[in-house]
Amino acid sequence: MSNNIVLIGFMGVGKGTVARELCKKLKRLMLDTDDLIESSENLKIREIFETKGEEYFRKQESLVAKNLAANVQNCVIAGGGGFVNVKNLNKIGTVIYLKSSFDGIIKRIENSQNAQKKFAKRPLLKDRDKAKELFKTRKKIYEKKADIIVDVEGKSAKNIVKEIVNKIKK
Ligand code: S3P
Repeated sequence: MSNNIVLIGFMGVGKGTVARELCKKLKRLMLDTDDLIESSENLKIREIFETKGEEYFRKQESLVAKNLAANVQNCVIAGGGGFVNVKNLNKIGTVIYLKSSFDGIIKRIENSQNAQKKFAKRPLLKDRDKAKELFKTRKKIYEKKADIIVDVEGKSAKNIVKEIVNKIKK
């Protein structure tokens, strides 16, 4: 297994924010699986879903996962919400699930500076009822795949990072 840290969790839970903070603390580089796909496709996630479809996007996630497992060391990796479903997730590194309730996540996005943009860039958040169903299914998968679970609801990124650092030391 590589010594990366992989953050997983539902859309909008704060994987990117926590990853950036964790990188500062651990002096590591950060990678974001959505950013990697966007740059290699030269398209936004929303555009990939619209023009090439979700299945194509999932194939790109698998490709990213393969490459991360084979070629990347010492990074903090923020996965997209569905990245948990790639085959070799645990080969990439220590998997940390950032856990929150669905309502907590929606509140977090609504209270953020670019709330509208954050909803708009996530095609699977468009239909709130469907998103809630997806959350219920995913929750079990996140829990199953995680090496470490951190409850993040209502906590600052700094405090979440403190908890993560304490837990990975153990
Ligand atoms: C998705 C989550 C998104 C992005 C895509 C699909 C998902 O990432 O990968 O819209 O399936 O949960 P974030 O979790 O960073 O929003």
